[in-house]
Amino acid sequence: MKLERQTDARWWQRGVIYQIYPRSFHDMNGDGVGDLAGVIHRLPYLAELGVDAIWLSPVFRSPMADFGYDISDYKTIDPLFGTLEDCDRLVEAAHAQGLKVILDLVPNHTSDQHPWFTESRAGRANPKRDWYIWRDGAPDGGAPNNWLSDFGGSAWQYDPASDQYYYHAFLASQPDLNWRNPEVRAAIYDVMRFWLARGIDGFRVDVIWHLIKDDQFRDNPVNPAFGAGSPPHNAVIPLYTADRPEVHEVIAEMRSVIDEFAGRLLIGEIYLPIEKLVAYYGRDLSGVHLPFNFALLSAPWEAGSLAKLIADYEAALPTGGWPNWVLGNHDRPRIAGRIGPRQARLGAMLLLTLRGTPTIYYGDEIGLQQVAIPLERLHDPVATSVPDHALGRDGCRTPMQWDGSAYAGFSAVEPWLPLSDDWRERNAAEQKHDQRSIYWLYRRLIELRRSNQVLLQGSYRTILARGDLLLFIREYSGHRLLVALNLGNDPASLNFEEGTLRGRLVLSSSLDREDEDVDGRLDLRDAEGVIISLSQDAEV
Ligand code: NOJ
Repeated sequence: MKLERQTDARWWQRGVIYQIYPRSFHDMNGDGVGDLAGVIHRLPYLAELGVDAIWLSPVFRSPMADFGYDISDYKTIDPLFGTLEDCDRLVEAAHAQGLKVILDLVPNHTSDQHPWFTESRAGRANPKRDWYIWRDGAPDGGAPNNWLSDFGGSAWQYDPASDQYYYHAFLASQPDLNWRNPEVRAAIYDVMRFWLARGIDGFRVDVIWHLIKDDQFRDNPVNPAFGAGSPPHNAVIPLYTADRPEVHEVIAEMRSVIDEFAGRLLIGEIYLPIEKLVAYYGRDLSGVHLPFNFALLSAPWEAGSLAKLIADYEAALPTGGWPNWVLGNHDRPRIAGRIGPRQARLGAMLLLTLRGTPTIYYGDEIGLQQVAIPLERLHDPVATSVPDHALGRDGCRTPMQWDGSAYAGFSAVEPWLPLSDDWRERNAAEQKHDQRSIYWLYRRLIELRRSNQVLLQGSYRTILARGDLLLFIREYSGHRLLVALNLGNDPASLNFEEGTLRGRLVLSSSLDREDEDVDGRLDLRDAEGVIISLSQDAEV
């Protein structure tokens, strides 16, 4: 079913976003770490996969304490990744191949090596002192209050030279900027304009819900649900350190900067419950275009739970707010590790058939596994700072597996993180040869989505969520697609009343049932999902 081409939706509503973790995508200069030249080299792969935009995790100058999320110069590319010219070349080459480029903006904090911070810590009278969040210690001499760092311990770092503390939501080497200071805002908006003027298509904004902190510095409430196994910072509820009402005013300003340039996109990284998340569309949609919806990252892989979270999300969206879905990222365990390689195929089908913009994490399209990293090769500061290493993120950041040659075609030398053990069989080149691979499933799903107005714009309705079965309908302009997912590992059959289920199977997750007629009965193999184009007269 191909309907007339949609004209009013914007590119980021029609498109599929693909997240690249540049350190791990492709290494061209032979230092074991991916780089911009490597991304350029692999653009044809992405164009062929069919995605519309790439988002690069940070590539700016950085001491790499948090692998680029600690920036010491917002307007320079770190030499590890290349040069500004490489970045310009990347944008040009991507555009030539029909791909948009989204950069990562990290405005909440800088590196402690950023000149702004060097000045700020130079003394209480320094003009940049108020660019960061400095406080006197508590009367007893300890930290100013009980705020905790997401990466463990107090969020306050003592500076003996000035006898004050500065606030850091993450590492002590990532001091938080003071977003109540108009000069800070102007400086970051200047950074945004610098990149937008170079032709990039938008930003994903790091921890956008953290930007503003309580101006009275009140203690966060103790978390009664905190228990064994919880990350240490969950000991308190971040009531006064994140999701403050004033943050929306700042985001609306960022949005105005974006809107100075035609057709650009603003995405917010926000981990909040759905009812709070949707506030980030902003009053009258003056906020981010897409507040990243991370509900699938931790959802139990179970029909009832999935149906509920989809329904809750759909119901919470503001009028005109465009939905989006994320299945993996550089901070969370890989989907194939979480639900297993067979169910990962259904994850792909769900991601690409739900209503809204999907974001694919690099490597998920080949079913890349969560990799167990030996202790001596751990890099992530979260892994090395938390005693049992359980929260470490290295396992989802391992090199892309391109082919069966040495180091999986990622690099000519030993990569910075180990490859997954299965790289000889699980790689893009092998999967391209196998028309039933997960790679081909992604490709076919993206292709179907791209040309199908029902998937692009249709409404969403769950029709069954029971046991292992999740069935939903997308509908647009009288055309309907039924998506049926068997989330279990046993075959399942469904008998529909006469006349209710009639149509043609357009895609199955096993990629071998296309064009089957469906009439009354639906047979699903174990861990199989299908998309059925319903006949006009089917009364489902
Ligand atoms: C969120 C990023 O996704 C994560 O990788 C990083 O460590 C923190 N923000 C701090 O910047």
